[in-house]
Amino acid sequence: MTAELLDGREIAKDYRAGLQEQVEALKEKGITPNLTVVIVGNDGASLSYVKSKNKAAEKIGMSSGIIHLEEDATEEEVLDTVRRLNEDDNVHGILVQVPLPKQVDENKVLEAIAPEKDVDGFSPVNIGRMYTEQETFIPCTPLGIMELLKHTGSLEGKEVAVIGRSHIVGQPVSKLLTNENATVTLMHSRTKNMVEKLKDYDVVVSAVGKPGLVHGKDLKEGAIVIDVGNTVVDGKLVGDVDFESAKEVASYITPVPGGVGPLTITMVLNNALIAAKRLNNVE
Ligand code: GUN
Repeated sequence: MTAELLDGREIAKDYRAGLQEQVEALKEKGITPNLTVVIVGNDGASLSYVKSKNKAAEKIGMSSGIIHLEEDATEEEVLDTVRRLNEDDNVHGILVQVPLPKQVDENKVLEAIAPEKDVDGFSPVNIGRMYTEQETFIPCTPLGIMELLKHTGSLEGKEVAVIGRSHIVGQPVSKLLTNENATVTLMHSRTKNMVEKLKDYDVVVSAVGKPGLVHGKDLKEGAIVIDVGNTVVDGKLVGDVDFESAKEVASYITPVPGGVGPLTITMVLNNALIAAKRLNNVE
């Protein structure tokens, strides 16, 4: 079998066209949705993500800003920045890029973001709301994964292996998959014989950051493979999945780059648009 490619760039393009129409409609009401990203320090990968998010926002007509603080910024400076953005009526979505430098307590900063502007859905209030199925913001990578999976059919009754238990991807996506009536196994570094177990699963979502972790020979025939890994090897972005072998076994597969990444950025825009609507009591 040769898998069908889940082309994140194409899927994101269509989705963003829909967002752009909604942005235009909002602008006609005098509201320009705004996304403001805070980055602390000079990590190359983080800077490049942040720039992509802002470029994508502007491309669909949103306004966007980057607040770039020095690597040695104090916790109080970061908290002050967040508090100022919370108070600014022209800012609808706030995103603080993580990880933060070690002198800054990440939990304190995420907790300081006003829940109604927390477009990442990382604040404890929004995490709680997600688990209790209340109005919230769903984290962008999990939301993007679910959007990709919509192109593969129903998840009801599917056995899904999620590899990696991070707060950003593995744990929230497990919840969203469960909501769709899939049966989820959350695997991690202490899971025994993990790779050998993968043959039992209809869907594999790998979010570890370990190139070559998942190989075609370990997959069930016809499995759906979502590769969330992004590791730079010799200057190239690679996922967790050995794409060449996996595509011979899978029914659907995401490439890296061009799979989950474009959907993550799309969902940041989606959530910022939702924030702008909610804050202005629009539909
Ligand atoms: N760092 C890695 N992924 C993310 C993300 O989705 N949001 C933020 N804020 N930081 C990240």
